[in-house]
Amino acid sequence: EQRLNWDGQRLIKYNGFWLLEVLFRPMLSAQNNFKAKDTDVILSTMPKSGTTWLKALTFSIANRRLFTIDQSPLLTSSPHTLVPSLEFNVYWEQENPDLSNIPSPRIFATHMPFNILPDSIRESDCKIIYICRNPLDQFVSHRHFLLENKIGKEADPLDVDEAFDMFCQGIHPCGPFWDHMLGYWKAHLENPGKVLFLKYEDLKEDITSQVKKIAEFMVFPFSPEEEEQGLIDHITRLCSFESLSNLAVNNTGNINGLVKNSSFFRKGQVGDWTNYLTPAMAERIKKLMDSKFGNSGLMFKI
Ligand code: A3P
Repeated sequence: EQRLNWDGQRLIKYNGFWLLEVLFRPMLSAQNNFKAKDTDVILSTMPKSGTTWLKALTFSIANRRLFTIDQSPLLTSSPHTLVPSLEFNVYWEQENPDLSNIPSPRIFATHMPFNILPDSIRESDCKIIYICRNPLDQFVSHRHFLLENKIGKEADPLDVDEAFDMFCQGIHPCGPFWDHMLGYWKAHLENPGKVLFLKYEDLKEDITSQVKKIAEFMVFPFSPEEEEQGLIDHITRLCSFESLSNLAVNNTGNINGLVKNSSFFRKGQVGDWTNYLTPAMAERIKKLMDSKFGNSGLMFKI
């Protein structure tokens, strides 16, 4: 077992991945005890890749017949409360909580790599939605997030060159990023009805078509009447960065005393890395992606 610090975070290496030590025990509890139902939807992500956004969208899609938009629970509850994380909420304190009373479709999130997921997620008919993001933006977003929060912090943050160098060696929470992405990418290629693979940049570019795609994948497609009523637009507006980041519930409070709700909303832009990283760093990531992604078909525009 290898342990080390990345940007003040204690990491543990497990099954080829560097996991945040503070989330390790809850991840193992989830891995051992979570029993997926065929109707479940699991949102999988690396941190800072669009988890909060995807939570808000999938919650709104699945519950749109229960609440009108102006009564949406998203107006008064954080997306992280409505769609709990397996490791950071559900299994945080309890080894084997009773989840049987949660109404279907249950939606949970996780940062677990594909090969670490509970067997029942892979083996049941539940759906997995994965979202990832250009690694340069993910890295920059993560550094800001860590500066704001105290998640298992025990050392001062590294300077950007050192943290970036470790990132390129795959040493960062849930890293290596290429293995995290490729695990879900390959699962998606093998079984596209089981794993939907999304990119943050595609949602920024055309949210309407991505929301339709997500709804179809979740087997909650929008009817022509719903489309005519403008329901997709209502949902995309409610879940937009501008709307969510301005709600009081997302500006106050924290999760487990460690993570501020407000820290999930910073800029919400594509390409912010250019304000923090050099062209040489981008070149290094490009080469790394070329070699690691190879001819898998996975790529990011930089
Ligand atoms: P930035 O730090 O680049 O602004 P996660 O939800 O996985 O923790 O990712 C957080 C990142 O997504 C942050 O990126 C945050 O600002 C952005 N984000 C949060 N909510 C969003 C939304 N509704 N639309 C677009 N981006 C959002």
